Amino acid sequence: MKKGVIFSGMRPTGPVHLGNLEGALRSWVTLQDEYELYCGIVDLHALTTDHEDTSELAARVRQMAVDFISAGIDPELSTILVQSHVREHAELHLLLSMITPVGWLERVPTYKEKVDDLHGAAPGYGLLGYPVLMASDILLYRSDTVPVGQDQLPHLELTREIARRFNYLYGEVFSEPAAKVTKHAVLPGLDGRKMSKSYDNLIYIAEDPESIRAKVKGMFTDPSRAYRTDPGHPDICPVFTYHSIYTATDVTREIEQECKGAQIGCVECKEKLAQSIIAALAPIRERRQEIEARPGLVDEILHEGAERARRVARSTMALVREAMKLPQEKTTARE
Ligand code: TRP
Repeated sequence: MKKGVIFSGMRPTGPVHLGNLEGALRSWVTLQDEYELYCGIVDLHALTTDHEDTSELAARVRQMAVDFISAGIDPELSTILVQSHVREHAELHLLLSMITPVGWLERVPTYKEKVDDLHGAAPGYGLLGYPVLMASDILLYRSDTVPVGQDQLPHLELTREIARRFNYLYGEVFSEPAAKVTKHAVLPGLDGRKMSKSYDNLIYIAEDPESIRAKVKGMFTDPSRAYRTDPGHPDICPVFTYHSIYTATDVTREIEQECKGAQIGCVECKEKLAQSIIAALAPIRERRQEIEARPGLVDEILHEGAERARRVARSTMALVREAMKLPQEKTTARE
């Protein structure tokens, strides 16, 4: 018996990187045995920001499906779905938008951040509605649990408020989903800044060993360690943060001491890190090769995922329409 239903989503704005893997995907993989898991490739959410050039969107969605499966999401066990394939996401978004005060949305911190990122360009109506779409994702599958990072908590709170308001207005249809905050060390970008595609400071999970080595070689380190003989400060070095995730604990501790004592140089330390990351990604790389050797497999999985998702989505929408007393379409009006 499963403990509950989980929906979680990722925006297909680019290939899955180590931040996505440690911050989300790994926890989904662990949760899929205990929970009924819906993994959304949320392409409509990607359009809230990346809508001017959509030429890459379909390829990115497909790539994300391959990334999910190679990272260990088991399509037999879990449902992988493309958000835009299941039209009910859009329908529920529209209906929930009617009962969501604009003020609630304007107060969401991520909205303000995203507007700042636009550098003066006018934010779209869809961007303001981002959390309503996210609430629709979650409520459509009547999820009770949502694994999210800290940054998504305001969105989840809003989902709960929208569910409460719906139930108050139209009767109990939704339960209020609980956040399951994923505990993980937050990985910095390779340059020590925040991970971002636009800073080009990411390692992708599909990256080949050669390019991982090159990227790790170029990583920023403790700036006060100018010479090999200077003692280092692992606590402020991004290379060390990565070691603490990808290298065995005893080795990490050794590296820490050797860095502080100037017994290991950054070049050697980075070589070790590259090896650890390459080893950690090896099973993912193997699974990717298996998937890519089977043409048609990914499309099949996405088709089946959409069918499975639609069955649940339709039954929720029937309850929503009934609760809201939307007019039923009569099919037997004329003989
Ligand atoms: N907003 C989430 C993010 O940026 C992605 C997302 C969309 C999501 N719909 C969701 C996450 C539903 C959890 C549940 O990471």
